[in-house]
Amino acid sequence: MQRYPPLIDSYNRRIRSLRISVTQRCNLNCIYCHHEGELVPAHTHAENEITIETIGSLVRAATAHGVRKLKFTGGEPLMRDDFAEIISNVPMLDDISATTNGTLLDKCAHDLADAGLNRVNISLDTLHHNRYQSITGHDMLDSVLDGVAAAVDAELTPVKLNMVLLSGTNVDEIWNLADFARESGDVILQIIELMKPDRGTGGADVDMGAIERALRARASKIITRDMHRRKKYMINGAEVELVQPIDNSEFCAHCNRLRVTSDGKLKGCLLSNNGLVDISNASEEEMHALLERAVALRKPYYAAGASSV
Ligand code: 5AD
Repeated sequence: MQRYPPLIDSYNRRIRSLRISVTQRCNLNCIYCHHEGELVPAHTHAENEITIETIGSLVRAATAHGVRKLKFTGGEPLMRDDFAEIISNVPMLDDISATTNGTLLDKCAHDLADAGLNRVNISLDTLHHNRYQSITGHDMLDSVLDGVAAAVDAELTPVKLNMVLLSGTNVDEIWNLADFARESGDVILQIIELMKPDRGTGGADVDMGAIERALRARASKIITRDMHRRKKYMINGAEVELVQPIDNSEFCAHCNRLRVTSDGKLKGCLLSNNGLVDISNASEEEMHALLERAVALRKPYYAAGASSV
């Protein structure tokens, strides 16, 4: 395979992973959903969605620049009937994962593993049925729990449970969810700070400093990951990771991922829609220049010593 130069942006951040949204369609309606930062979440028609061929050409081109990790997201990626085919059509990488709400996973976890998926993140903010219903608009908690068990059984591991912290709703469940993760097998709890793309609205913020102190106080061990400088805490036998992007220039300075929108545009940052680069129907050969253009346009949203752009 021909080698191409590494993808390094003007802030010296090297792109090592792609996060590809394959659809904006979803069978849940979470109150906090950021729609992966896409401007028009209403374009939920399958005909506008990035094709298997475009995804294949993009990933093949990106691997020649040293990209080794791939994450598929939605909407809900399993809303696409061809999701397993999408996975089998990309080359083998170090890590191919998907973020799913888990409601449809029970039936297809093994097929996805056979197609080449290595692991999943499953959105799970609460273990209470009434809270699940009010956060997501649907009474589907039991399907998600089945989905977690199926993912562990299919060895889509480590399974990460994505828990978005919502003030006054689920902050009291951190330790329960950590216990649930440990009891479920090879499962990690990932606690995520709520992002409000419209900024400043939508209720009180959770005191993330207090959460961090509580984790630190209970942790037997703390590890810092390269990616985003995220911290991992070992708590009572469970692995708990904290994702804290807001106003965090360290997070942005160590961001090594390029995003792809569900309608086929390269996107440098979740929170910015500047510098989108259309890749729909581009060939593998054409992808190299498109990747380079998108990376050249990439800027950290929270930069050290500067107000955000
Ligand atoms: N803030 C933080 N995380 C969010 N997610 C979705 N919307 C938000 C938000 N506003 C996360 C959920 C989901 C993943 C796809 O994105 O954890 O699992």
